[in-house]
Amino acid sequence: MLTSILLIVAAYLLGSISSAIIVCRLMGLPDPRTQGSNNPGATNVLRIGGKRPAAITLVGDSLKGLIPMLAGHLLGVDPLTLAGIGLAAFIGHLYPVFFRFQGGKGVATALGVQFGLYWPIGLCVAAIWLFVAKVLKISSLSGLISMALAPVIVWLFWSDQALIGMQLVITGLLIWRHRSNIRNLIAGTEDRLTEKSD
Ligand code: G3P
Repeated sequence: MLTSILLIVAAYLLGSISSAIIVCRLMGLPDPRTQGSNNPGATNVLRIGGKRPAAITLVGDSLKGLIPMLAGHLLGVDPLTLAGIGLAAFIGHLYPVFFRFQGGKGVATALGVQFGLYWPIGLCVAAIWLFVAKVLKISSLSGLISMALAPVIVWLFWSDQALIGMQLVITGLLIWRHRSNIRNLIAGTEDRLTEKSD
């Protein structure tokens, strides 16, 4: 029980470390919360600083989901604890204690959780993200479509109620955090995937 609580708290704290804000600070870029979409995430870092800082942000945010899930597996925790760990890491990214609870939209961290849960799940969700991004070139739509399908993918690979529940909550929160993107998508004004041009 104590191990489970410690893992869940550690996952939340790790999730609360905003890769986008740290990467932008270290690389001398503007704060992503005040530029572009104002979102501290890899897509907005791509707009602000280009591919390299965006890739580092993407990896950093994914690791926040991946590492706690792998730790859970290594310690042999039950599925309910694993679900708690994944949810805690994701919520840490959305509502980070270190950044006044103003975090990102969660796509990269959710992907890390899915890879950490069972890598084929992460691979399927990432493949859908990449396919939609390649065809439509809209990051938010890729995230929304891939994460809307993620509960079904989790169910196909790992039919555990707690883990499907975890993915349903992650998907629901992720859609909620993308509400401004959804409004833009409906209005036809959502940004296409572009990187900073010097
Ligand atoms: O992962 C975030 C992405 O789905 C949307 O980011 O900056 O276009 O709102 P942004």
